[in-house]
Amino acid sequence: MKIQGKVALITGASRGIGRAIALELAQLGIKRLILVARDRQKLVEVAKEIEAMGTEAAIVALDLTQTIEVNIVVAQLWRNYGQIHLLVNCAGVAYQSSFLQSKMPQVQEELSVNLLGMYNLTSLIARRMASQRQGTIVNVSSLMGKVAAPTMATYSATKFAILGFTEALRRELAEYNIRVIALLPTLTDTDMMRDLKLFRWVIPMTPQEVAKALVTGMQNDSPEILVGWQSHLAVWCQRLAPWLLELILRIATPPTLTKQQSSQKLNKLIPKLSFLTKIHRFGDLFLSRT
Ligand SMILES: NC(=O)c1ccc[n+]([C@@H]2O[C@H](COP(=O)([O-])OP(=O)(O)OC[C@H]3O[C@@H](n4cnc5c(N)ncnc54)[C@H](OP(=O)(O)O)[C@@H]3O)[C@@H](O)[C@H]2O)c1
Repeated sequence: MKIQGKVALITGASRGIGRAIALELAQLGIKRLILVARDRQKLVEVAKEIEAMGTEAAIVALDLTQTIEVNIVVAQLWRNYGQIHLLVNCAGVAYQSSFLQSKMPQVQEELSVNLLGMYNLTSLIARRMASQRQGTIVNVSSLMGKVAAPTMATYSATKFAILGFTEALRRELAEYNIRVIALLPTLTDTDMMRDLKLFRWVIPMTPQEVAKALVTGMQNDSPEILVGWQSHLAVWCQRLAPWLLELILRIATPPTLTKQQSSQKLNKLIPKLSFLTKIHRFGDLFLSRT
């Protein structure tokens, strides 16, 4: 896809990966960016950075779970700014908890933002792209959309669902000349990661690296863009030696404990367990199995 002269709408653009994608597209000379998230102040700051790079920026402070509001805003955007060529569905939330301790409001929020919010916005924009017979849609899933992680049941479920949704749309919308792509970042250094302390042993990537991988993937026409060597390794391991991945996940994830126990024990355990210790534990487990 040629970026120059195009208009893109990016959700989750106030920070993290969405912000990095916006800046990367501006760097490449995209004509206009429409930045969507709830935090207006943060959006204003991102818009200033983008305008300084010579790209037009419009901000939309919007909660994607508010279906009617989203409907109205999309109609206004199309009227005011014309065609949107690229939609990047990046907004997302993640809560980590033992499944047995999970809280329904958090589960509902993950489903509403990650899945239903994305579904609604995509349907509104895809209809308009279809009438123009062109467009690109990027849905941000995760490595956890391929390899489900313990303590992340709902989040993983939404990210698996995004991959299924993306694959179905890719086939269905091809006749309208609409490309549908999935982006699968691994652990990335953003606000979201800071809340996921249990997976600190994975080496996080930067949001800028993820944004660059997206651009390269789009240029290469990749339908699914796995980001980083760790993701490739995990997916290959899942295909070739699923038992090995099971072991690694068992070691990487602490046992599910009661909420109070888990925060107390993890605070004690995590700083003491170096990566090397984990490799040793992995070795022990591996030997005891074989
Ligand atoms: N960080 C990782 O390790 C990682 C790994 C794989 C995949 N991902 C995926 O990458 C995407 C971006 O994550 P991130 O790491 O950049 O997270 P982040 O820094 O926490 O940013 C999340 C973004 O989503 C927006 N958002 C959340 N709820 C929203 C709502 N109801 N309506 C509108 N916008 C909302 C936030 O903006 P406001 O708060 O201003 O609304 C923010 O811009 C997510 O889909 C995530 O699942 C992240």
